[in-house]
Amino acid sequence: MSLKFTQDVTNARILSVGAYRPPRVVPNSEIIQRIDSTDEWIQQRTGIQTRHFADADESLIDMAEKSALIAIERAGMTAQDIDAVIFATISYPYQAPSAATELLVRLGNVKAAAFDISAACAGFCYGVALANDLVRNKTAKNVLVMGAEKLSDFTDPEDRATAFIFADGAGAVVIGPSQDIGIGPTVWGASAETREAIVLEPSFLEFKKNPGNADIGWPNIIQQGQTVFRWAVYEIAPIALRTLEAAGLTPETLEVFIPHQANDRIIESLVKSMKLPESVVVAHDIRTSGNTSSASIPLAMDALLAEKPELHGKSALLVGFGAGLVYAGQVVELPSRPVQKSN
Ligand code: UT7
Repeated sequence: MSLKFTQDVTNARILSVGAYRPPRVVPNSEIIQRIDSTDEWIQQRTGIQTRHFADADESLIDMAEKSALIAIERAGMTAQDIDAVIFATISYPYQAPSAATELLVRLGNVKAAAFDISAACAGFCYGVALANDLVRNKTAKNVLVMGAEKLSDFTDPEDRATAFIFADGAGAVVIGPSQDIGIGPTVWGASAETREAIVLEPSFLEFKKNPGNADIGWPNIIQQGQTVFRWAVYEIAPIALRTLEAAGLTPETLEVFIPHQANDRIIESLVKSMKLPESVVVAHDIRTSGNTSSASIPLAMDALLAEKPELHGKSALLVGFGAGLVYAGQVVELPSRPVQKSN
């Protein structure tokens, strides 16, 4: 039997981006006392100078809501125009209901399709891939893709391997129909044999089952830094080049590079391995935002556009990679300048 319907497709693009960083700026000097480190070591090994931490009473959803409202307004829309929400996060402490449905309630639009995805630092690019397909196939018209993390809740401030890296923040984009192709093919996959390299341990189940056991602490990120570093440096550059090629671009014709903000040394190494010319503008938001996992790419995109408004509408290569290990990349056309409100 063949189904009887016509498949009508359209193009999609990122219409707007919004970002939220919690107000509390945390310098390295505040981190180092508990991990026997120095400001110099952190800056030299990661590029991080400061990061933002949310206060105890500021939740992941609070941050997500603020960035979503900015993105929606910049698209010239209201929350009622959004008909699907894809929420990428690894720091929402509930299995159900999803962070996406909590966000819908905050936005006052409880009818849109809504779901979470767990792809860690690749989560935002996974979300862009899904949103592109939803819009292209007219399953949804305007999709809000969120990347939000409150990693300070899941980082042990005494863990020398992670305490200086992870941070909090939220970034969102609205993806909607477009005349031209604004999102290129996604190149994605996993290196699941290395799934032990970044884990959240113990599990909530172990934590719940062993309330009195001091060895079973609250779940925190545990990372084999060097394993992940090597993987990122050697495996991601060829993937990024494949992503460029899939979009019909070369290092010479690319305009902007926004990789996951994991470590400035990884970013520099990718730029070198890919032989990106100096004309390509590279995001280094890690220096003042730290590593915010799924939020890092939209935060970096927003910061670049604020700093260099002339980049609106330019081609940007996005590449996310992290726990799984998983990765995803696509070339996008950066959003046009925000719609100006007339009085
Ligand atoms: O976003 C998800 C994906 N995550 C990533 O992409 C993270 C990838 N990994 C990294 O960014 C890096 O591995 C880190 C920044 C986490 C660590 O940098 P590293 O250069 O790999 O450090 P290391 O673990 O190899 O340690 C080098 C040295 C060691 O001393 P010796 O043996 O050379 O004397 C460590 O004991 O640095 C020492 N060290 C520290 N020193 C001061 C390790 N941690 C610290 C610290 N402060 N916090």
